[in-house]
Amino acid sequence: MVRVGIVGFGYWGPNIVRCFADLPDCKLTAVCDKSLDRLIQIKDRYPAVHAFETFDQLLSSGLVDAVVIATPTASHFSLAMQALERGLHVMVEKPLAETGEQCRELMATADANGCTLFVGHIFLHSSPVIKLREMIAEGELGRINYISSRRLNLGPVRKDVNALFDLATHDISMMLYLLGERPVRVSCSGIDLLKPGNHDVCNLTMHFPDNRMGMIHVSWLDPRKERVLTVVGDRKMAVYDDLDQEKIKIYDKGIVAPPPTGDFADFQISYRYGGSYSPFIQEREPLKAECGDFIRCIVDSKVPVTGGENGLAVVEVLEAANRSLTLNGAPVAVGLAGVEATTATADLKRVAR
Ligand SMILES: NC(=O)c1ccc[n+]([C@@H]2O[C@H](COP(=O)([O-])OP(=O)(O)OC[C@H]3O[C@@H](n4cnc5c(N)ncnc54)[C@H](O)[C@@H]3O)[C@@H](O)[C@H]2O)c1
Repeated sequence: MVRVGIVGFGYWGPNIVRCFADLPDCKLTAVCDKSLDRLIQIKDRYPAVHAFETFDQLLSSGLVDAVVIATPTASHFSLAMQALERGLHVMVEKPLAETGEQCRELMATADANGCTLFVGHIFLHSSPVIKLREMIAEGELGRINYISSRRLNLGPVRKDVNALFDLATHDISMMLYLLGERPVRVSCSGIDLLKPGNHDVCNLTMHFPDNRMGMIHVSWLDPRKERVLTVVGDRKMAVYDDLDQEKIKIYDKGIVAPPPTGDFADFQISYRYGGSYSPFIQEREPLKAECGDFIRCIVDSKVPVTGGENGLAVVEVLEAANRSLTLNGAPVAVGLAGVEATTATADLKRVAR
């Protein structure tokens, strides 16, 4: 029986607490929040659970084998590191940390102490996304040319991170999972209207190997809520609308271009307008599936799909995209190459000044 403690009982934490309280093979033993009001609410709802005001009290209590971190992004690295150093298994809400370097340190500490490190990329536990991945793997959509997504709404506005870190994390995690690879470079532009330096609206373009692309538009200043992801293959196309009852629609549509002949007059494109259908999807609550997977990974010593590597891959894209934002949308290489190139550019700028 894995004993679980949760830190952060704000907006998202109560959902996580509810899921762990319902799951088999684990026991929710402790919750921590630095806000006294939130502690009172915990005790009201879960009288048997121990409530702590500081993370150190929770860690020292001896009541937990695993901790779940549901606090703002800036605190993820420090809290996760403290728990891993004590040999506890850790699940961190998205994104895993603020930088790739922090992710690597967490991964190394988890490995050294034999701990499971797990990140809350919730959509990789949702049935429609798993179905899409299966269809792509079976070749039903053909070669995937690009994926685009829109994640828009009026709020909720965050002060601690920009819309990229808050919202695009979900889309990046899905696109990397569906394409099964990482982008080589990104460019990102946006606007900061509410708080200087904290972008509210962002357009991110990711370039993958073999001329494939991912495009993400996120905003918390939009009048309508949208959660749409479109996968364009050369055989079929799929639209995943998380707000629709029929979450996935497959379109048997496409364009066929003749082999190049060099003579423009021969260039006759043909359009294929087939039908559309919605595949059956066995629905389940993604958050409960995610929490259950964390416990199974601990019990069965399984490597999580959403483990440290996966968390790092997403954070490296976010890091490069953030750098591109400050460079007015200039392309930035993803990963260590991007970090080095940008440091070199910054050094050159300093020298030029
Ligand atoms: N997967 C999803 O769909 C989803 C949705 C919302 C939020 N999240 C993630 O969940 C995390 C939390 O987001 P939120 O919206 O709940 O934030 P929030 O600000 O509403 O809540 C955070 C809570 O953590 C507490 N806290 C902060 N630092 C603490 C510390 N050092 N020790 C103890 N308590 C501390 C605060 O008092 C607060 O109650 C973020 O990483 C966010 O990205 C994920």
